[in-house]
Amino acid sequence: MSLKDKIESVRNQFLADIESFPTSQKEIEDLRVTYLGRKGQVASLFSEMGSLSAEERPDAGQWLNQLKTELAKQFESKVDEMDQGSSGNDLFLDPTLPGIAPPLGSMHPLERTLQEIKDIFTSIGFHIAYGPEIDDDYHNFSALNFPEHHPARDMQDTFFVSPDTVLRTHTSNVQIHLMENEDPPIRHIVPGRVYRNEAISFKSYCLFHQVEGIYVDKNVSFGELKGVLEYFVRQMFGPKVKMRFRPSFFPFTEPSAEVDIWSTERNQWLEILGCGMVDPAVFDNVGYDSSIWHGYAFGMGVERIAMLKYKIDDIRHFYQGDIRFLEQFK
Ligand code: PHE
Repeated sequence: MSLKDKIESVRNQFLADIESFPTSQKEIEDLRVTYLGRKGQVASLFSEMGSLSAEERPDAGQWLNQLKTELAKQFESKVDEMDQGSSGNDLFLDPTLPGIAPPLGSMHPLERTLQEIKDIFTSIGFHIAYGPEIDDDYHNFSALNFPEHHPARDMQDTFFVSPDTVLRTHTSNVQIHLMENEDPPIRHIVPGRVYRNEAISFKSYCLFHQVEGIYVDKNVSFGELKGVLEYFVRQMFGPKVKMRFRPSFFPFTEPSAEVDIWSTERNQWLEILGCGMVDPAVFDNVGYDSSIWHGYAFGMGVERIAMLKYKIDDIRHFYQGDIRFLEQFK
């Protein structure tokens, strides 16, 4: 076989080997030694040049040098290929390391608070109901015994959609819808969004959430209302929380009260809900006989409760979607 044929056959063998054989850095290195090492195939071809005639030698030298650079190049690119392919592959995988957890969302603190409120009341027999956020003046105000020129109807507080349609300012509108649609006894809580046209600050926002409660039956007493709300507060904030009932006024309840919780952070009482016995005038508006039926109602602010429970100092945190805030509720 001439030297030229031998060169050709080494080249072909090499091309077949490099294509199929090496799967690790070590195998490539072994292959490189076989071909380009000091005693490798290319070196032994070079040594055969000694037996060539002076005329044959220059050409043979050129072919051999070509082969040598060609092989060196191929090894280089094979090593590069392997480096890229192996990152994140077998070479870098340590199965004893803890895994990287995919990021998980968290429940929004308002949703979480609402769930707790719902759990507490449904476990003592309340049903859950919903009602409209856009309602007529009648259900939001008149039927609830608000006098014609009561300041709560003022533009200061109420978003009007039209002269007779409002974004509800409280969930109490659903008291009226429930009593219009069902005969007593009724016992519901009503979670939902409410709207008030107030200056936005750390303690008030144009939108917030309330949970209304209404219970109508024979022989419902104020003592029962106090008992249920005290039970709720202790479930929500723990048995040691300081709370008080403070006399108050609402057009649709008589007598009326508000419940305050003592905040050790702020060193002051914070109001969390309004309540009272359903005013007979409201029963008249929905066609319940107030000589037979009695009831109590309450309405609590979900943000206020969440702020107290989770020690949040600014109501605006609830609506900004800041992950640094939300991630604290995982
Ligand atoms: N609707 C009242 C408010 O928004 C709360 C309330 C509800 C008071 C039910 C009494 C009875 O402040």
